[in-house]
Amino acid sequence: MSNNDSPIKSTGLHIGEAAPGCKKTDPMLVIDHVKKSFGGLTAVDVEHLEIPKNAITALIGPNGAGKTTLFNLLTGFDTPDTGAWEFLGTSLSGVPSYKVAQMGQVRTFQLTKALSLLTVLDNMKLGSKNQVGESIFRALFPGSWRKQDAEIELKAIELLKRFNLDAKQADFAASLSGGQRKLLEMARALMTDPVLVMLDEPMAGVNPALTQSLLGHVLNLKKEGMTVLFVEHDMHMVRHIADWVVVMAEGKVVAEGPPETVMNEQAVIDAYLGAHQDTDLGVVTGRISIIDQEKDK
Ligand SMILES: Nc1ncnc2c1ncn2[C@@H]1O[C@H](COP(=O)(O)OP(=O)(O)OP(=O)(O)O)[C@@H](O)[C@H]1O
Ligand SMILES: [Mg+2]
Repeated sequence: MSNNDSPIKSTGLHIGEAAPGCKKTDPMLVIDHVKKSFGGLTAVDVEHLEIPKNAITALIGPNGAGKTTLFNLLTGFDTPDTGAWEFLGTSLSGVPSYKVAQMGQVRTFQLTKALSLLTVLDNMKLGSKNQVGESIFRALFPGSWRKQDAEIELKAIELLKRFNLDAKQADFAASLSGGQRKLLEMARALMTDPVLVMLDEPMAGVNPALTQSLLGHVLNLKKEGMTVLFVEHDMHMVRHIADWVVVMAEGKVVAEGPPETVMNEQAVIDAYLGAHQDTDLGVVTGRISIIDQEKDK
């Protein structure tokens, strides 16, 4: 990738040294002592972590590091054993997932959750919040329901256009390719006008022809003022679009900092090599080898 199309990176995100748990100048999420075990296995053990506002943060780490589990906890899809966290100053501990989404924090799934037997458009409509048609009170006034339904549909179609899926709106989600499903999930997440978008491996299984457009969509979220937190194994994507990188290993945050420095840290290399002793970091972490990374500099 040439330097000409490099996105503008946000800087000045942290206070003091870039180290695990460091404070951010303007945090969107503040996480404290969040722990989750499955049987005897500690999946997540995060002492302190702040996610900066209006920036793109990548959450990386080897398989089983606890990245998805942390996503599940933060979005109310699972409950921690201990710990608390705040989203824009409001405690989210114990808040169920649908409320978390209503409050502006949405996520996508590592394995896409598009409903195969619904059309693309219906999948989008399901993503909208405040469906007044669903409340009994509003159901007594079908006029307002119909008006809102029309508005939701318009918004859905606009988003589908933006993600190049409008031609597919009447198709079953099952007919989409893996990459198109990832796009649909991202588009659907935007139906609620979120302020924080959390993407779990947005590039996994995506055809290379679609990766560039996916990168562009993620960068656009930031341009529009949203905050992005994404999990990704593709280090090329991480280096290219992340303003900040958080590294997890065995449930803990082992490093954090800007991509150009953090990915060369010994703790990060150790975390990956610990899990894959027979492979080099470049192969483990994505489509780019260490040699390519050196050339990139
Ligand atoms: N529901 C569950 N029951 C039991 N163990 C679980 C459960 N969910 C996750 N784990 C375990 O917790 C650890 C962390 O898993 P998690 O899926 O969060 O990792 P990850 O960092 O997202 O990995 P990957 O990069 O492979 O997606 C793993 O050892 C996993 O096997
Ligand atoms: Mg995962």
